[in-house]
Amino acid sequence: AAPLRVAVLGCGVVGTEVVTLLTDQADDFAARVGRPIELVGVAVRRLNKVRPGIDTGLLTVDADALVRRDDVDVVVELIGGIEPARTLILTAMEHGASVVTANKALLAEDGTTLYAAAEKAGVDLYFEAAVAGAIPIVRPLRESLVGDEITSVIGIVNGTTNYILDKMDSEGSGFDETLEEAQQLGYAEADPTADIEGFDAAAKAAILSSLAFHSRVSGADVYREGITDVTSGDIASAAEMGCVVKLLAICALTEPAELADGSPGERAVSVRVHPAMIPRSHPLATVRGPYNAVFVESRAAGRLMFTGPGAGGPPTASAVLGDLVTVCRNRVRGAAGPGESSYAQRKVSPIGEV
Ligand code: NDP
Ligand code: HSE
Repeated sequence: AAPLRVAVLGCGVVGTEVVTLLTDQADDFAARVGRPIELVGVAVRRLNKVRPGIDTGLLTVDADALVRRDDVDVVVELIGGIEPARTLILTAMEHGASVVTANKALLAEDGTTLYAAAEKAGVDLYFEAAVAGAIPIVRPLRESLVGDEITSVIGIVNGTTNYILDKMDSEGSGFDETLEEAQQLGYAEADPTADIEGFDAAAKAAILSSLAFHSRVSGADVYREGITDVTSGDIASAAEMGCVVKLLAICALTEPAELADGSPGERAVSVRVHPAMIPRSHPLATVRGPYNAVFVESRAAGRLMFTGPGAGGPPTASAVLGDLVTVCRNRVRGAAGPGESSYAQRKVSPIGEV
């Protein structure tokens, strides 16, 4: 059978794992998809960087040329940031490619444009890796629980800050040295300010809220505090009280306030990210290192908990490759994944209203 052609944009922490696994397990992927997958190119910024195990013949600095190819079935975007990632994704869609991305910053800033472009082009947009690394949480919210009414999504969604806070608590490590470790281990963003100031968690909270509450919440809508003001003294005081400090994302649907005429008002979305003290007996307190955990509460299903590795190359590659296989299967069958045809324009309520 004719192969499905895949282009990968970015060969850093995540891209390297994706390209390596895709190459090493080519036969398994062909069997799972029903057709072989052919990697046609890998876009990078620097051609002269040493990349052990990567076929240098695939590398190119011309990402634009890759996304303009009409014979490419799927583009996997692992560059990160807003531009050129957004333009590359939109161009790929215009040229008929489905897109898999791990780019939470872009989805939180301009997800509406990406969803609309995918709908217009009739292609898939999958992004499981954008929230909580290897943990399946996007697909459950977008598909498995879409028939239920989700009322809250609460969790630890940034691996870097959880790694730092955990090491400060369990080993008395300093903030700066632990951040450096998290960077070396590939957990942190290219600019780690996004992690420690809470922007990354806020982007993920925006994506989770948009999916859970069928709304459009952007990163800028999220109340945000990072962990840069959390001192070793704060961690020690929390420990004395039998607590740990965690950076939490808290997304909830507000109860409708009664209007002047006695009728119920509209429910709004409340989304916030900030450090919080949690008793050591709480399940979230047991989430260690770069692990994440997300609790979902819904009307019919009740309470669900998802946990696992939230950052790092291999765990994130697992989520990217799961999306890639799904998108390829859709292409083979001529089917489409979940679209985003309708959503509510819910108000995002300021902190304190919930
Ligand atoms: P890296 O910084 O490690 O890799 C980025 C890659 O993109 C590099 O290969 C770089 O090239 C390439 N690149 C940058 N600019 C361009 C450009 N203009 N054209 C072509 N290639 C370019 O990032 P990560 O792998 O850590 O992250 C990738 C994405 O995955 C981001 O959206 C991130 O938020 C997301 N993510 C990351 C996780 C993690 O744990 N690291 C977890 C979940 C999601 P070069 O190698 O030449 O510098
Ligand atoms: N920098 C992110 C984190 C990567 O630490 O959680 C995973 O999205």
